[in-house]
Amino acid sequence: MAAQWGSDFFGTLNELPPEPVAGIGHVLEAAASFPTFKEARQWVLRNLGVSEGSAILEGGCGNGIALGELLELVGTCGRIAGIDPTKAFVEAARERAMQLHAPNARYELGDIRQLPFHDNEFDPALCDKVLIHAGPAAAVSPG
Ligand SMILES: C[S@@+](CC[C@H](N)C(=O)[O-])C[C@H]1O[C@@H](n2cnc3c(N)ncnc32)[C@H](O)[C@@H]1O
Repeated sequence: MAAQWGSDFFGTLNELPPEPVAGIGHVLEAAASFPTFKEARQWVLRNLGVSEGSAILEGGCGNGIALGELLELVGTCGRIAGIDPTKAFVEAARERAMQLHAPNARYELGDIRQLPFHDNEFDPALCDKVLIHAGPAAAVSPG
């Protein structure tokens, strides 16, 4: 139910057959390389204030499209966690982490409004094209 995730139709994808969800996953892959989306994401990543070894949380990670860029930022000694309510996307993100040999990246089902983490567990948090569908998010730290 969309109500469960506080979202628009992006909160209903677990109720759809696999084919349309896979199709939406392909659209997300394509959208990630559109210049406007790519430049906006890279601007955010440049300004997150993360460095080698940082721990970063991606809320609404979808199928983990940003993983390669996140790995470049935090390196192999950093930590990446992604949460998303869509089971097929989380599975695809885990597969991507395996293909990119990224044991430091973990993907779980989750809701940005009820984060399954401790306060201050991450340095920054990132939401890319998510808040318009499911905002507002919970805070990751009191600041
Ligand atoms: C437009 S997609 C963006 C996905 C990814 N960030 C990207 O750039 O490809 C929106 C995402 O928000 C997720 N979403 C919907 N409700 C959510 C919630 N309550 N908490 C976290 N993510 C949510 C959807 O499953 C979907 O993956």
